[in-house]
Amino acid sequence: MALTFNWKLGFAVLLVLSMCASQATSRDLYEASMVQKHEQWMDSVGRVYKDDAEKAKRFKIFKDNVEYIEFVNKAGTRPYKLGINEFADLTNKEFTASRNGYKMSSHQSLSITSFKYENVTAPATMDWSTKGAVTGIKDQGDCACCWAFSAVAATEGINKIKTGNLISLSEQELVDCDTGSDMGCDGGYIYDAFEFIIKNQGLTTESNYPYEGIDGTCKISKESDHAAKITGYEDVPYNSESALLKAVANQPVSVAIDASGSDFHFYSSGVFTGECGTTLDHAVTAVGYGESNDGTKYWLVKNSWGTSWGENGYIRMQRDVDAEEGLCGIAMQASYPNA
Ligand SMILES: *[C@@H]1O[C@H](CO)[C@@H](O)[C@H](O)[C@H]1NC(C)=O
Repeated sequence: MALTFNWKLGFAVLLVLSMCASQATSRDLYEASMVQKHEQWMDSVGRVYKDDAEKAKRFKIFKDNVEYIEFVNKAGTRPYKLGINEFADLTNKEFTASRNGYKMSSHQSLSITSFKYENVTAPATMDWSTKGAVTGIKDQGDCACCWAFSAVAATEGINKIKTGNLISLSEQELVDCDTGSDMGCDGGYIYDAFEFIIKNQGLTTESNYPYEGIDGTCKISKESDHAAKITGYEDVPYNSESALLKAVANQPVSVAIDASGSDFHFYSSGVFTGECGTTLDHAVTAVGYGESNDGTKYWLVKNSWGTSWGENGYIRMQRDVDAEEGLCGIAMQASYPNA
């Protein structure tokens, strides 16, 4: 009896001990695999930290982000996927502060005088990138001048449509020279960028005035250097996805969105359906629209966060949502240049 009892107790103790051990081991293994993942990620994006303290701090943020990304992807309840992109060691707050420089304006509601596309019939789908009216994805870097990228992409689009030439234009000229209420890497307004381009009688090319991603002094380019001009700009009627559709059917359109959420930060593929609010903080360009295989309508949006983000730098955002503002406020402050 005693022998049997002791043997059972011994077995139970052993079992408990081995369970603890295996838990400790799996936790260690998990931590080690995360450290390895971080190292591999650092190599792949070329990240170097100034010291061990910074590395430890960044590792912790990286780990939190990876856990969130894996949680969302495993749950599989959203129609889009997140990915460990080059922004994976930044908190959401750091990320939005350094990239989302759109200033919400009160300008919009005051200025709508006419909408030249009001009577057009929009085709069922549109993709200006396959029509040669969209330049390659650019990368604003650690400079919140999305407003310049958005205005430039819309200008590149109308220039191609009017002249037949797709010319990559200079964001840095806007960052350095448009010093009205636009503040370079500290943010700006799209309509102000258009007003600058009109007054400046155009913009020069990307190669003439390359992007640096810092606030510089204006290296005034001669008027004769200007590669594309616009004659004016118009706002799309406020809070109307159907009006936005008519505009995008005719040219790439600058739009402002609320891009502050974690799911936007790590968006990788699929039709993005939120979460997001309508506090507009990021400027991008609507370059098309369509419907996914499962019938979800979307806007095709060009971003300026490099090609590692999203679908090779693009995002498909759900279209025709219940809210009149559109998803993330996409229909609130849309505008396009005339040429
Ligand atoms: C659209 O059609 C209406 C009715 O025919 C007309 O009054 C209006 O001027 C048209 N708008 C434009 C921009 O052509």
